[in-house]
Amino acid sequence: MKYHQKVIKTTNYPIYIGDNIYKEFNSYLNHSKFKDSNIFIIVDENTKTFCLPSLQENVEKIKNAEIIQIKSGEENKSLRTAELLWAELLKRGAYRSSLILNLGGGVICDMGGFISSTFQRGIPYINIPTTLLAQVDASIGGKTAIDFYDAKNQIGLFSDPDAVFINPDFLSTLPYRQIFSGFAEIIKHALIKDANYWKMLKPLKVLEISDWSGLIFHSIVIKNSIVKLDPLDNNQRKRLNFGHNIGHAVESLSLKKGKDTLLHGEAVVVGMICESFLSHKKIGLPSAELNEITQILMEKFPPYSIVDTKKEDILQLLRFDKKNNPRVLNFTLIKKIGKALINKSCSAEDIKESIDFYCSLCNKNI
Ligand SMILES: NC(=O)c1ccc[n+]([C@@H]2O[C@H](COP(=O)([O-])OP(=O)(O)OC[C@H]3O[C@@H](n4cnc5c(N)ncnc54)[C@H](O)[C@@H]3O)[C@@H](O)[C@H]2O)c1
Ligand SMILES: [Zn+2]
Repeated sequence: MKYHQKVIKTTNYPIYIGDNIYKEFNSYLNHSKFKDSNIFIIVDENTKTFCLPSLQENVEKIKNAEIIQIKSGEENKSLRTAELLWAELLKRGAYRSSLILNLGGGVICDMGGFISSTFQRGIPYINIPTTLLAQVDASIGGKTAIDFYDAKNQIGLFSDPDAVFINPDFLSTLPYRQIFSGFAEIIKHALIKDANYWKMLKPLKVLEISDWSGLIFHSIVIKNSIVKLDPLDNNQRKRLNFGHNIGHAVESLSLKKGKDTLLHGEAVVVGMICESFLSHKKIGLPSAELNEITQILMEKFPPYSIVDTKKEDILQLLRFDKKNNPRVLNFTLIKKIGKALINKSCSAEDIKESIDFYCSLCNKNI
């Protein structure tokens, strides 16, 4: 499947995907309300090196844009960096009709969206995602946030970008681990909503995929179809949380540990395996499908070490996860491949068992 140029219209903003989106981007900037805006681009050291030059070369209006650089890494999706960004905007004269471009992965899209939406009660922003994970997931759907203390995405708001421009060519400089991390979210989209997509993904060899645009398009269509039913995440959008309850807890603990840190998608793989086990135990995901999911995930991804992670710490974080009422541990589980159900409660014992299940697959115990 090759998609040279595609536009997906969400409820509030367009998403452009293409091997060369610059034509669309130039025309958008020249004809939209932003034609006279002063533009700020948020980058990190990697997107400054690998992505900014091609943007600057091809998009006339941003030649004189202000560049604000932050440090890469989840540990910098923090209040401290948010403060730095607000301070830079203030110092460099940003105002309500300025425009912010978030040029980066999920960290920059999440944080750039958050600081834009809060600065002077909201400056418009456009996401230009540069990682696979951000292209299929983080740049769309309007969730913006920073991490706070040891927990992910604790401070944030729902706020849509004005547009999203996706250039799959950016993926050519992305490290393999990051590609796999994004592929985990693609797999999640299949498991929660589209059994045929799962069938299509199963035989793919991730490192041999040269044209990502079809998969990016398909994943966005799935995410968008769910988000538009429930933009504020009160019910049906929770289907997108599959793998993310245990996943976020494992990710937060690994970040806290500070070494051998798991990437977001890697933690989601652990979460999807544990939560597939819970799906089998609690809502009857057929054992053949549980086996198929675990086999494919263990084949495509290496066993991630959660050996130093205490089950009690995972439970503690789950109790404080904003997706949960602290007294009931609710999960999004899958009844069968392609069908997710929300608000399925699991006990502490079930959860511990699911973690043991993952560890047994890795031949390790915690
Ligand atoms: N808002 C949402 O709906 C949503 C959904 C999923 C994930 N997220 C968030 O996304 C974040 C993870 O995002 P991520 O996986 O993109 O990580 P990231 O933003 O940390 O980027 C990963 C690394 O790749 C580098 N990089 C980015 N683009 C590059 C390129 N083209 N070439 C070379 N290097 C490049 C970055 O500098 C960074 O070092 C997490 O904080 C997660 O919570 C948000
Ligand atoms: Zn995710």
